[in-house]
Amino acid sequence: MNISWDAAKYTHDFSFVHQYGAALLDLIDGEGLSVLDLGCGNGALTAELAARGHDAEGMDASGDLLQTARANHPELRFRQGDAADFQAEPPYDAVFSNAVFHWIDREKQPGMIACVYNALKPGGQFVFEFGGYGNNARIHAALGREFEKRGLAYRMPFYFPAIGEYAALLERGGFQVRLALLLDRPTKLKGEDGLYDWIRMFVKTPFQGIEPDLGEEIMRSAAKELEGALRHGGDWYADYVRLRCKAVKPRESTCFAKI
Ligand code: BEZ
Repeated sequence: MNISWDAAKYTHDFSFVHQYGAALLDLIDGEGLSVLDLGCGNGALTAELAARGHDAEGMDASGDLLQTARANHPELRFRQGDAADFQAEPPYDAVFSNAVFHWIDREKQPGMIACVYNALKPGGQFVFEFGGYGNNARIHAALGREFEKRGLAYRMPFYFPAIGEYAALLERGGFQVRLALLLDRPTKLKGEDGLYDWIRMFVKTPFQGIEPDLGEEIMRSAAKELEGALRHGGDWYADYVRLRCKAVKPRESTCFAKI
């Protein structure tokens, strides 16, 4: 995960990230569980986990987001850590994550899944959602066209896997996959420049090494090109597709070999 966050802007303008995450919490079975919120961001969903009676702890790689999380929720525990390289002692009853794993390169996913597996008790639940196959396809296609028109190559900066690919990774990591869904979730963006602002906030790496004025022109042109497809009744909508999963660490690891 390689991005520095403007924590205040993220919390104010992109609050849908945690608002939508609330439905995902319903997939955690049981009460009073120890739960790690992996990639907790500003801590909004860590607080929601705690409000539901869980012993919740948040972990994030970003010091800025953790500062916001600690300021907003001083009663909760937060720690800094890399989702693809962490350890937990004692292990948790559940690991929860919302809108994080698409930031982690494909090659690092098996390592991240192994960390989660090791961080869970036998029978522990792994409940998460992130961008799935086709997520923001129109946005990235439009950016790709704008790059190409200018003789530049656009490299997709996110990992948006299909159900089959991700379920296989989980099973190879020793998990039993109990639920996997791919859901369209058009997401309303704030403001007149909603899509342009979204691109500026989240799509950083393809613009590295490009003159700021040219980058600005590309973002504006892509947003303009998408008015017909992603602007309805004056409001902008990002074409989100969610991969929502629940997997369980088996209680008995001796009967079934890892796939
Ligand atoms: C997402 O939540 O799907 C997402 C957010 C920002 C950038 C890329 C994907």
